[in-house]
Amino acid sequence: MGALFQNYARRPIAIEKGQGTEVFDTNGKRYLDFTSGIAVCSLGHAHPAIVKAIQEQSEKLWHISNLFESPAQEKLAEALVKDLHLSHAFFCNSGAEANEAAIKLARKHTGKHKIIVFQQSFHGRTFGAMSATGQDKVRNGFGPLVSEFVTLPFNDVAALKSAVDDKTAAIMLELIQGEGGVNPVTDEFAAAIHDIHQNSDVLLIVDEVQTGIGRTGTRFAFEQTVLKPNIVSMAKGLGGGFPIGGILGTAELFDTFSAGTHGTTFGGNPLGVAVAQTVVDHVFNEEFLTGVQQKSAYLVAKVKEVLPHVNVYGKGLMLGIGWGEDVASYVTALDKAGLLTVAAGPQVIRLLPPLTVSNEEIDEAVAILKSVLVK
Ligand SMILES: Cc1ncc(COP(=O)(O)O)c(C=O)c1O
Repeated sequence: MGALFQNYARRPIAIEKGQGTEVFDTNGKRYLDFTSGIAVCSLGHAHPAIVKAIQEQSEKLWHISNLFESPAQEKLAEALVKDLHLSHAFFCNSGAEANEAAIKLARKHTGKHKIIVFQQSFHGRTFGAMSATGQDKVRNGFGPLVSEFVTLPFNDVAALKSAVDDKTAAIMLELIQGEGGVNPVTDEFAAAIHDIHQNSDVLLIVDEVQTGIGRTGTRFAFEQTVLKPNIVSMAKGLGGGFPIGGILGTAELFDTFSAGTHGTTFGGNPLGVAVAQTVVDHVFNEEFLTGVQQKSAYLVAKVKEVLPHVNVYGKGLMLGIGWGEDVASYVTALDKAGLLTVAAGPQVIRLLPPLTVSNEEIDEAVAILKSVLVK
C-alpha cells in the first residue's frame, strides 16, 4: 500500500522528462506522447518560449492574489476574446472550476436553476461539474447531487425540444465529448440548440476545456459551428501544462459577477497568466491553426491508409480511433511499443499529440499503431 489514494489507475511508467512530443521514463525509455497530458501540453513538453516565460515571471512575481489590479490578466482576456462575440474573462485553476463558474454565472444571471446537460458528457469532479456530468461512474457513491441538472441523450433533437421550458437557465455541452468517447455534436443538433438559443432566454454554455485553445484546429470548437455561446469554459491547453482555467462570457453577463460574488485565491496568478499568454500568442495565429488542420488531415489520412478497419472520430488533433472492441489492452501494448495514448470510454483510443507535432512524428506514431493494431 503506497502513500497515495488509489483514485487513479496509474500505468507502470514514470515519466521523468520531455521535449516537444518526446518523453522519457525513469529507465531512459523514449515514448511519443500522444496524450499531451490529456490534451494539455499544447506546445509540447518544455517548449522554449514557455520555459522562458516561467523563468522570467518567476524572477518577478509568482502570486499576489486578486486583491490588486492585474494588467497581465487584462491582456490575456483581451487576447482570448479578440474578434469573437465574447467580451469578458474570469480566470481560475482547472476545468472543473471553470465549469463551476459557468454554472454559477448562468444561474445567477437568469435567476433560474435548471441546466440541460447530456449523457456521456464530462465536466469535472467538483459537485456542480460532477452533477452536470452525464456518466454514472463519475457520480455514483457521492450522495445527493446538485439539483436541477436534466441529463438528456446527446444529439437527440426531440428530447432537447421537449425538455426546454421557462425554468431552463442554460444548455451546457461539449461540442466533441472527450472523455465520453470523442463524440461530436451533429450539425442537426447544433442547429436545434442554436434555434432555441436565438429564440428564448436560455443561455448556452459550451465546455471547451478539452476542445479549446486550438485543439480542434480553430481557437475554439464553437467557431466551426453555428453556435454563439454566452459562456465558454476553458482550461487544459490554455496553460500548456501549467494549471490555469477560466471562462469567457458575453457582455450582457458583465454585471452578474459583481465584486465578491465569485472568486478564487490562485486564479489568474502571474505565473499561470504568463504561460497562458505565451500559449495564446503562439496558438491564436492563422498560420499555427492552419498547421494544426494540416497535421490533422495528415494523421487521419495515414491512419485510414494503414488501418482501414478503424473508424476515426473527432477534429483537429483531438482524434479518436475505434473498431468496436475494448481498447484497454491495446493502450497497454502501445505504451510498450513507445506510443502513449489515452482511452476515451471503453472502445476508443484518443490521439492527442501536442499541437506542435511534426509529420515525421506522426509517421512514427502511425507505424507503431500499425505494428500493434494490425494482427
Ligand atoms: C470537457 C471537460 N470539461 C471539464 C474537465 C475537467 O477539467 P479538470 O480535470 O481540469 O478539472 C475535463 C477534463 O477532462 C474535460 O475534458
